[in-house]
Formats: sequence, structure tokens, C-alpha cells
Amino acid sequence: MRIVVLAGSPRRNGNTDMLVGSFVKGASVHNEVEVIRVADLNISPCIGCERCKSSDGITCSIDDDMSKVYGSLSHADMLVLASPVYFYGITAQLKTVIDRLHTPVRRTYPIRRMGLLLVGASELPQVFDSILVQYQLTLDYFHLEDMGRVMVRGIRGKGEIEGDPSLDDAYGMGLSIR
Ligand SMILES: Cc1cc2nc3c(=O)[nH]c(=O)nc-3n(C[C@H](O)[C@H](O)[C@H](O)COP(=O)(O)O)c2cc1C
Repeated sequence: MRIVVLAGSPRRNGNTDMLVGSFVKGASVHNEVEVIRVADLNISPCIGCERCKSSDGITCSIDDDMSKVYGSLSHADMLVLASPVYFYGITAQLKTVIDRLHTPVRRTYPIRRMGLLLVGASELPQVFDSILVQYQLTLDYFHLEDMGRVMVRGIRGKGEIEGDPSLDDAYGMGLSIR
């Protein structure tokens, strides 16, 4: 399988990147994995022009780095969303990429599976709830298979996730995918 991870933290080598790193180590045993750090790309938000719906084969009227993401997703079997919790949601950078997948061209993508990696500072049991609702609705809407979720609470400082058992969980989740 080809797996594309959309890594949503703007903080390079932070907790999300480390969680993604463990996932990738496991997932690479049986699969081809690409990580896209979305904050490193220049991607503008969807403007709702719907040009993608009126012209056949047009991905988007905005010409920016999203073309790289479209290219990667066009041959992906599985998508992994990875993000720190920002105000009980995913980061704006990751949401921006997801919104740009409004285009009908996404129907041509072979993606049939999805996974989720999250890190939040709060210990609140509900800290991931709003993200999980969006995730579940997206799975349902696109009839995708859920390949697993690793969600880590109580991690705030850069690199604080080091030594946390969740890194093993992310590795195990990756390893289980084939
Ligand atoms: C703008 C901003 C908003 C945040 N909002 C939340 C939040 O609502 N709930 C929470 O638990 N943590 C919140 N955090 C903390 C991060 O989720 C936490 O520090 C995480 O470990 C950062 O991961 P990273 O190193 O991959 O960026 C917020 C951090 C920032 C910078």
C-alpha cells in the first residue's frame, strides 16, 4: 500500500512529528510511506469558487503547493491525518489542506483507508471529541476503513512525548497496516 501522512503541526520535530516518525517506522515495514509536513508548504485556503466543479478535470483554481499534495494523493491507498490539538480542533494548516480536497478530482484517488494521530496538552477526557466527530463523519461520508487512532493527552512542551508509550502504539499501528 501507499500511505500518505499529512502532518499538521507547524512545530518542526515536535510531538506530532515524533508520533508520525514512530508510525512511519512501523508502517514502512510493509508499505511505502510519504510524510507531507503541510506547514512547510505554501497552501491558501479554499475560496469556495466551485470552479473545480464546473470544469472537468480541474483540481483547483488556486495555483500553489497544493498541486504537490494532489499529486501524492492521486496514488495513495491510505491517508493518515496527524495533528496537535489547537483549540479543540486540528491545526489551521491541516484544515486548509483538507478543505482544498473539496474538488471532484478526489473521486479518482484510490484512498480507501484512513488513520489518525493526535497530541494535546490537556488531560481532559473530551479533548479529542470534536476532532473525532469530524474524523468519523469523514470516514462515513467517503466509506473509508478506519485503520486506527493514536491519541495522546497531557503532552505540551516540544519533544515531551519522548519515552511515552504512545510512540510504541503509533509504531504498532503502523506495523499492523499491510
Ligand atoms: C495555538 C495553540 C492552541 C492549542 N490548543 C490546545 C487545545 O485546545 N487543547 C489542548 O489540549 N492543547 C492545545 N494546545 C497544545 C498543543 O496541542 C500541545 O502543546 C502539543 O503537544 C503540540 O504538539 P506539537 O509539538 O506537535 O506542535 C495548543 C497549542 C497551540 C500552540
